[in-house]
Amino acid sequence: MSSHEKIEKSVPLLIVLVIVAISFGTLVELVPMIFSKKLSEPVDGLKPYTAMALEGRDIYIREGCNNCHSQMIRPLRAETERYGHYSVAGESVYDHPFLFGSKRTGPDLARVGQRYSDAWHRAHLYNPRDVVPESNMPAYPYLFANDLNGELTPVKMNTLKKLGVPYTEADIAGATSAVAGKKEIDALVVYLQQLGTLIQTRR
Ligand code: HEC
Repeated sequence: MSSHEKIEKSVPLLIVLVIVAISFGTLVELVPMIFSKKLSEPVDGLKPYTAMALEGRDIYIREGCNNCHSQMIRPLRAETERYGHYSVAGESVYDHPFLFGSKRTGPDLARVGQRYSDAWHRAHLYNPRDVVPESNMPAYPYLFANDLNGELTPVKMNTLKKLGVPYTEADIAGATSAVAGKKEIDALVVYLQQLGTLIQTRR
């Protein structure tokens, strides 16, 4: 019996060797990643979300926008031609939780910032069919009526600070007044307009 045949015919031996092979593969993939600064260091110019963008991001999550929109451009030609430079890890180091997603009922939004005007986004979110007749995206007219409540904004920033997001005392102290008197739609548009703008794309 060849040694290979012996391995294949012995279930316990096969199990042990499969575990060894998988563990080795995991180590090779994982260990360099843990020490790679490229994955944990922010890209140049990355700043924590402003109070408005942070509230906008929370509305984005609350409304489930991430169920239809990914924020992850893969390094494939078809993707970069359509959406711009592929996503890099350093762009999301302050994202807790990250919103990469994988479901694309609508287009990827990782670099949608500055692609359209604020007015376009407002019209689109009020009723997508007004600007994209064939759209099946839901309408969000109530975001235009809902006031932002900035009471919790400093609390959110404090929590993110504990997770390593470098908010300053001044950011936190000014957070409530920064969103005072604004509507939910204002915050959501601020959030959308900064998405992916740190890395220049073909636009
Ligand atoms: C049911 C799935 C669905 C949900 C939920 C959804 N969208 Fe969309 N979205 C789409 C589809 C489909 C399109 C493409 C047609 C269009 O432009 O309306 C789109 C397009 C967009 C675009 C234009 C992207 C581009 O590059 O042209 C933006 C911006 C956008 N959505 C933002 C949002 C936001 C913000 C939310 C949450 C408040 C949201 N979407 C929720 C399906 C969805």
